[in-house]
Amino acid sequence: MQCRRRPAMANLRLRHLLAFLLLLSVSDAVVNSCTPSDREALLAVKSALVDERHMGVFSTWSGTACCSGWYGVSCDPTDGRVTDITLRGESEHPLVSGRPGFMSGHLSPSLCRLDRLTTLVLADWRHVSGPIPSCLPSSLPHLRVLDLTGNQVSGPIPRSLPALSSLMHLDLTNNRITGDIPANFGDLGMLSRALLGGNLLTGDIPTSIGNMNRLADLDLGRNQISGEIPESLGGMRVLSTLYLEGNGLSGRIPGSLLANRGLSIVNLSRNELVGEIPDVFHERSYFTTLDLSYNLLTGKVPATLRAAAFVGHLDLSHNQLCGHIPQGEPFDHLQAASFSGNDCLCGGPLPRCT
Ligand SMILES: *[C@@H]1O[C@H](CO)[C@@H](O)[C@H](O)[C@H]1NC(C)=O
Repeated sequence: MQCRRRPAMANLRLRHLLAFLLLLSVSDAVVNSCTPSDREALLAVKSALVDERHMGVFSTWSGTACCSGWYGVSCDPTDGRVTDITLRGESEHPLVSGRPGFMSGHLSPSLCRLDRLTTLVLADWRHVSGPIPSCLPSSLPHLRVLDLTGNQVSGPIPRSLPALSSLMHLDLTNNRITGDIPANFGDLGMLSRALLGGNLLTGDIPTSIGNMNRLADLDLGRNQISGEIPESLGGMRVLSTLYLEGNGLSGRIPGSLLANRGLSIVNLSRNELVGEIPDVFHERSYFTTLDLSYNLLTGKVPATLRAAAFVGHLDLSHNQLCGHIPQGEPFDHLQAASFSGNDCLCGGPLPRCT
């Protein structure tokens, strides 16, 4: 009995070892190569883009190891489906660091075949142009990050964009996107950052944005947006930065907006806002930046600003304000530049009232 047990044990160990090695090589194969159809889609994405400065962005995009060796590509390790494409023109990676990114071409509609994508970043390449493929929202239900900032992407925001129900970060800043923001933009219930600044957007700010209970950062600045600031923005629970500067916004500033406790950076500069600045500040107001400059605001500097917990940078310059600037904090630490270019403001830091 004893003589036979030892070889049996050794045999068992050997079989365990073999099974382990087999498992290793299988999982290795899965990790390294993506599915043939994902590989084909990636190659179509590559051929639609032009690495103008021959930086070698796509030099690794050949062979079958799309999940391990292809720069900027990651997969689900269990099934080799592509989940992540991240190509940034400005990054620390040796391939691009120290040289500003420069890539032209367009976004291939073949992206829509990568239906397990959670992250698509093609940022700061300066010259990638053409539209956002309209198939994208209906094809990529798992997309959480869409970042195309710093290119020349044109055409409208796809009408069906709000169908991206998992989207958390949308960054289309500094492109050439035209048309209106879809009225049902507020359906993007998971979105925490909506950065659409520096485009050619027109039309109104959709009221539905006020329903976005996870939205912390909203940048619609430097567009051609008109109409009034929706009152609904004042009710947003976690909104902390709001950039609406450099548009054609008119009407009054909603009182609820400036009374919103979470807001800490607000830039409404360079619009056509009228009426008085709502005198609604309170002990929970905490503004690192409040820029209302270059509008058509009338009336007085709101006295309740003195109640605010903190006001860092305040800019009320170039409006039609009048009367005494209140004394005490935060006014004591502000410079004349915060109040210059108004109709008849007076008192420190401006000259005395007469
Ligand atoms: C607000 O936006 C204007 C216009 O783009 C810009 O000039 C200004 O510096 C911004 N204000 C702050 C405090 O960043």
